[in-house]
Amino acid sequence: MSLIDQFGRTIEYLRISITDRCNFRCSYCMPVEGLPWLPKADILSYEEIRDIVAELAPLGLRRVRITGGEPTIRPQLETLVRMLRDVPAIEDIALSTNGVKLPELAARLAGAGLDRVNMSADSLRPERIAHIARRDLSFEPVRAAQAAQAAGLLPIKLNVVVMRGINDDELVDFARLTLENPWHVRFIELMPVGSLEASTDQHVVPSDEVLERVSDVLGPLSASTGPSRGNGPAAYYAVDGAAGTIGVITPMTHTYCGQCNRVRLTADGRLRTCLFGDHEVDLRGPLRAGHLLEPHVRRALADKPEQHALLSRRNGGLRALSQVGG
Ligand code: 5AD
Ligand code: SF4
Repeated sequence: MSLIDQFGRTIEYLRISITDRCNFRCSYCMPVEGLPWLPKADILSYEEIRDIVAELAPLGLRRVRITGGEPTIRPQLETLVRMLRDVPAIEDIALSTNGVKLPELAARLAGAGLDRVNMSADSLRPERIAHIARRDLSFEPVRAAQAAQAAGLLPIKLNVVVMRGINDDELVDFARLTLENPWHVRFIELMPVGSLEASTDQHVVPSDEVLERVSDVLGPLSASTGPSRGNGPAAYYAVDGAAGTIGVITPMTHTYCGQCNRVRLTADGRLRTCLFGDHEVDLRGPLRAGHLLEPHVRRALADKPEQHALLSRRNGGLRALSQVGG
């Protein structure tokens, strides 16, 4: 039994947004005043999330990622991890986080059965992070990544949204981290998603330019297989002899939609088959009514678009990324 969409792509990966809220206000992601948050009654409980995953696993779901908003601000996250760990056939449980709570939570999450983390890190300089996140905080992402590594949440991936004039002077500093650490630093092309301040065309840096700027300083990059697990849409490279790799994720300059293996579950229980567009089917209603989800899931897959519309139809139907789970 498997989940196959209308273009023959096998879906085995679910990104689960467990909250639309965040303790940061990154200017490319959220307005500074926040967004109209979902009412609590609309948000899936951990039990409901587990039930959805348990129903999809026999259909072919193998990997899940817990995202937000910022998932670590939801209380007792380790309870959800443990519940998902107990679902047979789920091979990989990952977490996407801004990392602020990792020093405190990493060991507990690993103990509950979390396999690995992806951390967003748009700067290595605490004062610049505070500026990008528009929060009064002093955060050192390298220490958070070290905490995750110490807890065995491997492989460690650091996601950097590259923004011209905002953090592109740190490309080499980020890449340098891979020389000594077995980390995978992934440069993501900024997606201009609308009215958000830092999210405009002028800030986009094409990934080819990123790689060129890194290799100008650190030497030639060779193609790499990247981390063993969960490669998704990134292409990986490595500096000769480095412990880690450098990846690029290129929503703006190359499309990877042909290999798409994923769907998303929003915090309010909608199955979204593409990051962009309006391709959503409600699962919360049928779930709370005690109905089978499979027909709804198949209906959603039949409508999964061939590729995202970001390039052809600017901002078509895009909700802020914090609302759709990155
Ligand atoms: N462009 C690219 N990536 C984005 N993210 C959020 N907003 C954007 C955007 N406009 C993704 C990044 C970030 C995560 C929280 O969501 O991966 O690290
Ligand atoms: Fe929060 Fe991540 Fe969005 Fe920043 S990019 S506001 S950390 S969800």
